[in-house]
Amino acid sequence: MYKIAVLISGGGTNLQSIIDNVKSGFINCKIEIVISDNEKAYGIERARENHIYAIALGKKQYGDKLSDEILKVVEEKDVDLIVTAGFLSILKGDLLKKFKDRIINIHPSLIPSFCGKGMYGLNVHKAAINYGVKVSGCTVHFVDEGTDTGPIIIQKSVPVFAEDTAEILQKRVLEKEHEALPEAIKLISENKVKVQERKVFTENN
Ligand code: GRF
Repeated sequence: MYKIAVLISGGGTNLQSIIDNVKSGFINCKIEIVISDNEKAYGIERARENHIYAIALGKKQYGDKLSDEILKVVEEKDVDLIVTAGFLSILKGDLLKKFKDRIINIHPSLIPSFCGKGMYGLNVHKAAINYGVKVSGCTVHFVDEGTDTGPIIIQKSVPVFAEDTAEILQKRVLEKEHEALPEAIKLISENKVKVQERKVFTENN
C-alpha cells in the first residue's frame, strides 16, 4: 500500500480533503502518519478522529533539528511520499536529499506570484488583492531547497473580483486546494508523474 506522511501546522483542511479522498477511494493510499510542528494544531484532532497516527514535533523544541527528526520518523514508517499541507516550517538537509521528488507542497497562489519568504496564509491573498490581479489560484509543487521554488505539478486558477477581500479570496482558493492536492497525490501514487528539470509531465499535460 502506498504510504504518505502529511505535515501540518494548523487547521488541517487540506489534510481533511486528503482523508476524505482516501475514504472515497479516489486516492489509493494510506495516511501512515500526520506530523505537526505545532502541538495545538486542530489538524492533529482531525487525524485522531479518523484513527490516523499523529505526533507533534514542536518547532520550538526541535528548532534546527526538526527536519532530521522528521526524516527519522518517515524512514521508520517507510513512507513513500511526504505532503506538506499548511506546514509552516522550512524543510532542509538530508530529508530533502533522501526524499528528492518525494515531497510535495500546496501553496495558495499561482507560483511564481506571491510566494517565497513570509508568503503564507492570508498574507498571500492580501498581496494578490493589493496588487489588483484578476486571476489567482493554488499550486502543488515538489519541495526543493528553496521556498516554494520546486517544479510545478498542478495549478488551479480562480477569478479575483475588484470587491474581493483577502478572506473571500482565501475561501475561493482553498476550495481549489482541496481538489488539487488529492489529484496530485493520486497521480504520484499511480506513478503518472515524471520530472525533467523544471518540467513535470503528467497524464493531464
Ligand atoms: C492553506 O491556504 C494552504 O494553502 C497553506 O496553508 C493554509 C491552511 O491550510 N499552505 P490548512 O487549512 O491547514 O490545510
